[in-house]
Amino acid sequence: MAQVPWEEACARVRDDDGLPCREVGAWSEDKLFVWHSYIQTTSTSMVGKPQWAAGLFYVDLFGGPGVCQVKNSTRRLPGSPLIAAMAAKPFKHIFVVDSDQRNAVACEQRLAKVGAKDRATVFTGDSNKIVNEIARRIPKGALTLALVDPEGLDVDFETLRTLSSAGRVDLLILFADAYDALRNLDAFVSGDDKRLDRMLGARSDWRKRLGELPNWEPNNLREFFSRQYIETLKNELGYAAADTKIIRGPHGPLYRLVYASKHPRGLDFWQKVDARDRHGQKGLFS
Ligand SMILES: C[S@@+](CC[C@H](N)C(=O)[O-])C[C@H]1O[C@@H](n2cnc3c(N)ncnc32)[C@H](O)[C@@H]1O
Repeated sequence: MAQVPWEEACARVRDDDGLPCREVGAWSEDKLFVWHSYIQTTSTSMVGKPQWAAGLFYVDLFGGPGVCQVKNSTRRLPGSPLIAAMAAKPFKHIFVVDSDQRNAVACEQRLAKVGAKDRATVFTGDSNKIVNEIARRIPKGALTLALVDPEGLDVDFETLRTLSSAGRVDLLILFADAYDALRNLDAFVSGDDKRLDRMLGARSDWRKRLGELPNWEPNNLREFFSRQYIETLKNELGYAAADTKIIRGPHGPLYRLVYASKHPRGLDFWQKVDARDRHGQKGLFS
């Protein structure tokens, strides 16, 4: 099956279907375009490969309603679960979680409309709890692509541990370094807010290391947290390769996408993705 170009994927959700949408800033299109490109490339190459006898699976822990509406514009974009449903070669199963029931219902209805009803399960609830059920349902011998796309620091490291226990699970995680970690740093350092501790994991000694960091410029701090996170993914969960891309808004960096694969070759697909931006220009992230 041929790869679906990004504009065609957007055209499929162009008409108002009366269901709730997620309102997003224009920069969200960069994130969604990256995920779309990665899924198109990976599904094209991996579905049907003998080493993945159980097939290709998709997990979306913060799925949203399935369609995004760009603020102050008429542009509508497929949300991550619909991007997965439009993979060049279909996933064997798509698991989506959203804590908001309206989003979960809208997502389920939209997945049905694009023909994915029988190969999708949408859960309403906290993904940090539902992850156990999802990990149980992923068979041995599967290749799983998982998107972890919270609004802030809402995913616990233990959630990733559970998910990654399901075998070869490659991850794309939104790490809200600029607009959450740095903005609320005082509360995270004092321990009044525990979300950063939960996100970086109980065994991370980030506080001690932060105390040793000589330069607390925002760029340095963001790099510091990114290094801590990747180191823990590698040391504790056996991720072999990782890379990050910074997503910028009109006033500078907003957040970082952390890609991690259990196999060094996983990076090959990922690096192809940032070779061109959605206008066909080189170097989306340079
Ligand atoms: C940034 S949005 C996800 C956007 C989505 N990936 C897309 O492409 O449209 C985060 C979503 O996570 C949901 N959410 C927030 N906390 C959650 C939790 N603990 N578990 C599951 N979903 C959660 C929100 O309702 C929201 O729809």
